[in-house]
Amino acid sequence: MTEFQHRSYRLQSHPIVRGSGSPQSTRKQGILYCASKAFLHSWLQSLRVQLQETSVEVLELAPPYVQTELGHSSQATDPAAMPLADYTAEVMQILITPNPPYSEILVDRVKALRFAERNGDYERVFASRNKQ
Ligand SMILES: NC(=O)c1ccc[n+]([C@@H]2O[C@H](COP(=O)([O-])OP(=O)(O)OC[C@H]3O[C@@H](n4cnc5c(N)ncnc54)[C@H](OP(=O)(O)O)[C@@H]3O)[C@@H](O)[C@H]2O)c1
Repeated sequence: MTEFQHRSYRLQSHPIVRGSGSPQSTRKQGILYCASKAFLHSWLQSLRVQLQETSVEVLELAPPYVQTELGHSSQATDPAAMPLADYTAEVMQILITPNPPYSEILVDRVKALRFAERNGDYERVFASRNKQ
């Protein structure tokens, strides 16, 4: 039993945990990072099942590659990364909608990565993320 289950929640609550699109396609750089995000994704799925009889819904915010300084200061201006303002604006739009699918907050740009396996595209995505 989790600590969450021991508490009685009177109010609806929706804690948001920051995951990543990365667990769906690991890469040679940041192998521990990707593994930790894969762990988090799995753990959150189990936690949701444990909490399904409560008023708590745990949401996973899984960003694509976004212009922040997470990896390096140059990431903040990398044209390959999604502009931060665009990302936050799209996230706020999604949060307005109740019950996001799979309890995940996914902007359009991360969906090809998130659903690569389901779309039969995993091998190609994996290879393109691990090019020399
Ligand atoms: N940006 C992306 O491309 C991307 C993609 C997928 C997932 N994510 C996820 O999004 C989350 C936030 O990343 P971000 O892009 O917003 O990066 P960010 O702008 O670099 O922010 C990282 C934040 O984490 C804090 N932090 C770092 N190490 C910490 C520590 N040991 N203890 C406590 N706080 C610590 C930093 O605090 P200080 O400012 O005080 O150092 C900063 O506020 C991360 O979980 C990341 O994995 C980001």
